Amino acid sequence: MPLVSLRQVLDEASKGGYGVGAFNVNNMEQIQSIMEAARETKSPVIVQASRGARAYSQDRFLYHFMLAATEIYPEIPTVLHLDHGNSVATCKSAIDMGFTSVMMDGSLLEDGKTPSSFEYNVQVTREVVELAHAKGVTVEGEIGCLGGIEDGHGAGGDGLSHLTDPQQAVEFVKQTGLDALAIAIGTSHGAYKFSSKPTGETLKMARLIEIHKRLPNVHLVMHGSSSVPKDLQDIINQYGGRLRPTWGVPVEEIQLGIKNGVRKINVDTDNRLAITGAIRKVFVEKPEEFDPRSYMKPAREAMKKVVALRMTQFGQAGHAGDYSPIPLAVMAHHYADHAVTV
Ligand code: G3H
Ligand code: 13P
Ligand code: ZN
Repeated sequence: MPLVSLRQVLDEASKGGYGVGAFNVNNMEQIQSIMEAARETKSPVIVQASRGARAYSQDRFLYHFMLAATEIYPEIPTVLHLDHGNSVATCKSAIDMGFTSVMMDGSLLEDGKTPSSFEYNVQVTREVVELAHAKGVTVEGEIGCLGGIEDGHGAGGDGLSHLTDPQQAVEFVKQTGLDALAIAIGTSHGAYKFSSKPTGETLKMARLIEIHKRLPNVHLVMHGSSSVPKDLQDIINQYGGRLRPTWGVPVEEIQLGIKNGVRKINVDTDNRLAITGAIRKVFVEKPEEFDPRSYMKPAREAMKKVVALRMTQFGQAGHAGDYSPIPLAVMAHHYADHAVTV
């Protein structure tokens, strides 16, 4: 089937009461890992590329790898999503290339670091909604800011300084007409989220539940949702790495989120850890190897295992067959019929 919109996948996930992992990619092997995991677990998938990923890969390569994915895995509903678009122009270029979903992250200014005003966020998100919906493309926005900084994206700090205000979230949805809303409840990007094991109080789940109560029909998105498993950290350190002790987001917290409106869960770091551990292992155990396939194959397999596990834990496994793809042109008509007027 062709690439489908994020909106279709999240609507379907909402009906089924499950979450869908959104996994970041930069290259062919990561796409293959995700697609293989999706086939094995019969899951719909969201593949996402950041600005950094688009620059690294010369994004037309990524786009064509994704078209190949739809040919090779025709039974898998697959979304191609722009992660953390920093401006209207960035989102527009992704839409023009064929992404079926974009995130306009107006919670930060174009530099990807400085928290913006509510008015700025509404204005840029609304602009992207107009551009995107005219083509049937989905829009994710963000209110409140994530902490941490990865490749220049994030407000810095511990993730708690800019939590989402539930009332502002309601206003934001009303004024923008977006499809999916990323909220800040204390997570941050990257491996160093928490310096001790999170308790039930570490993430502000009560706030998430409050937002869901006020916006029961809005698809919520959790960023910074890698669990940073100890076993993956240990492999890296066992084979010469130097990760400091760290903790990520417990899967049970994500599952509680899924019971309360979270439909899209962003995971990048766990896959980076899996890939790096597998490559380091080959380098240490087989120092005579110099064929990149000797370490890229185990790396691809290691990422596939993590993705398949998350697909099962998030509940998307077994649901690939529920979909008949809605063409973007039909989505565009639907948006035109239900246009938001502010
Ligand atoms: O936004 C965070 C994702 O992990 C993407 O990271 O900007 O380094 O590609 P990146
Ligand atoms: P992690 O760094 O926790 O994997 O988060 C990824 C993310 O939120 C991408 O937008
Ligand atoms: Zn993110």
